[in-house]
Amino acid sequence: MFDALSGLPEQCIRAWELGMALTVSARAEIRQVMVTGLGGSAIGGDLLRIFAGKRLPVPVTVNRDYVLPKFVGPQTLLFATSYSGNTEETLSAYREAREKGAQIIALTTGGKLKAMAEKDGVPVITVPGGISPRAATGYLFLPTLAVLQKLGLLEPLDEQVAELSRHLQAMREQLKPETPLAENRAKQVAINFFQRIPVIWGASGTSEVVAQRWKGQVNENAKAPAYWNVFPELNHNELVGFQKPEELLRQLYIVILRDTQDHPRVQKRYAITREIMGGAVAGMDEIEATGNGDLARLYSLIYPGDYASVYLALLYGIDPGPVKVIDQLKARLAEQ
Ligand code: F6R
Repeated sequence: MFDALSGLPEQCIRAWELGMALTVSARAEIRQVMVTGLGGSAIGGDLLRIFAGKRLPVPVTVNRDYVLPKFVGPQTLLFATSYSGNTEETLSAYREAREKGAQIIALTTGGKLKAMAEKDGVPVITVPGGISPRAATGYLFLPTLAVLQKLGLLEPLDEQVAELSRHLQAMREQLKPETPLAENRAKQVAINFFQRIPVIWGASGTSEVVAQRWKGQVNENAKAPAYWNVFPELNHNELVGFQKPEELLRQLYIVILRDTQDHPRVQKRYAITREIMGGAVAGMDEIEATGNGDLARLYSLIYPGDYASVYLALLYGIDPGPVKVIDQLKARLAEQ
């Protein structure tokens, strides 16, 4: 997992190249963009929804299900994303997208998805295998941006991608195992999460997907629970729920993911919320986005969480790599 994490800056460049190498053209005017996938593959779709949502004149949605919404049709550009290529929900959604005449692009390492797409004459972006899907966010996100750029739906992003890779290279020096605790934000976060329940708060439309990502990474790497929510919504319900039961609340540790580009009113909410929380939980911390460009800033919040979840696994004496529970569940379902 450490190798995969440290390879992310290079993965992003490779992922971009693979997306740019695809020959694409739209069959009909594109009215919606959709990513269908699950787990680590769906997160790539969420990143697209956040990043491209601000830029595209058409909606970007993520579908995590066997079935597709009714509006999907020939004017839908649909990325069927599955790292393994064998996730049954994604294969089912792919089949339905074919029936509905959607403009499909498969994004995978291989498996049944690649085989079906090739047979159907559907364009496939094949990314390298051998790592966990959750360690492949570059491969599962950047090619979709490249396709949208090639279709003329997004402005040229080559410089942003280069900046992303440069920024991640600098960050990995700060986050890698050799960097001591005093200078390593990921290790500090992991120690604060240890023997507690992590809660991660992001901001709507920016770091919300990152908060969800942190939660998933703690679940899958450290094999521990974690929860997430977003500002400003959490100010309208979750914040009220920190009064009882006191003992259990003191087992929570909250991290707020923030960016100077968050809505100015949301930025005011962070300090007020912390004040209202008082000493209800074990502690609260904040991680600030850094870097130039939306892509670098988005990943500057993701990367510390990825490393922190792996350090947390090590604190628990757990191998962050295998996710036997998911494998078992998929195997049992396949029997039926
Ligand atoms: C495993 C992981 C999972 C998978 C999910 C879907 O690292 O992150 O959440 O991503 O079970 O599988 P794929 O991505 O192969 O379609």
